[in-house]
Amino acid sequence: MMTNFAIGESHAKIILFGEHSAVYGKGAITLPIFKLKVSVKLTTNLKNNEIESDIYNGSLINAPLEFNGIKSLIFHMFKINNLENYFINIKFENNIPIGRGLGSSAAVSCAIIKAFYKFFNLDLTHSKLISLINISEQIIHGNPSGIDAQTVTSESPIFFENNEIKKVPFNFDGDIIITDTEKVGSTKEAVSIVRKLIDKNPEEYELINQLGNIVKNAKKSIDNKNIENIGNLMNKSQNILSYFGISTNEINDIIKISNYNGALGSKITGSGLGGCVISLSKDSFTTKKIIKSLQNNGYKKNWIQPLKDFEME
Ligand code: MEV
Repeated sequence: MMTNFAIGESHAKIILFGEHSAVYGKGAITLPIFKLKVSVKLTTNLKNNEIESDIYNGSLINAPLEFNGIKSLIFHMFKINNLENYFINIKFENNIPIGRGLGSSAAVSCAIIKAFYKFFNLDLTHSKLISLINISEQIIHGNPSGIDAQTVTSESPIFFENNEIKKVPFNFDGDIIITDTEKVGSTKEAVSIVRKLIDKNPEEYELINQLGNIVKNAKKSIDNKNIENIGNLMNKSQNILSYFGISTNEINDIIKISNYNGALGSKITGSGLGGCVISLSKDSFTTKKIIKSLQNNGYKKNWIQPLKDFEME
């Protein structure tokens, strides 16, 4: 019934457009980031369930708070599959920075689920995978829109609209530069800041509508290969996200440096309050210039995602 070991893998994600408004049912455009990966190796254990990772080694039951989502997920999988008499060892290799809006929590859950279902030779459909990821996401984030779960399980960029999911081709040159503020941002806290603002001033909900419209315009600009407009829409999104109070000095600084050095637009990606900034560059010359300047200013953790990787017929 069981194999000797099983490996599950997943990757990071960025939200190009639509963070926060997605929580209110608006659309989003997200991209998988294959350079940043998590791999989970699952083997059998004799006495208890154990975790081996960079941040914690020990029993699953005594794992620190940040493992709460994973803990519930694993116990849930044992329970629904009547496997409560088995014990496993779960070894992580993760190069997705944690708490930076890059979907690390959803990716880690995804890798664990894939490894678990392979290990016990169980059938895993895409919809089961998504609903299991969202079990741990709910514990970590409260009220996830589900876009992280969809993107860490996708091989292509996604356009979400009215609960529909479509692949989006990017048939043009350009790079997305991802820059890490190296500060952890709490999704739960950021979502609650936006919620409180809207509860206090219901007319601010108009900004959620505006973010939703930006997503629609961005989809048209991607289809029309209008990279300048995509950049403008990134700056527009950022103005709204910043008004929500989820930008930080580091985020603002990275945006200023990137746009000054030729980025067509820059914004938070993910929940904000730290995490990462994404900037759009039209060619590799500009990308190099932006990264050099960011690094000279102390922002040394950058990743380049060429849009050409997302070409489709
Ligand atoms: C988090 O990556 C994105 C948010 O929109 C929350 C969510 O969609 O669940 C802030």
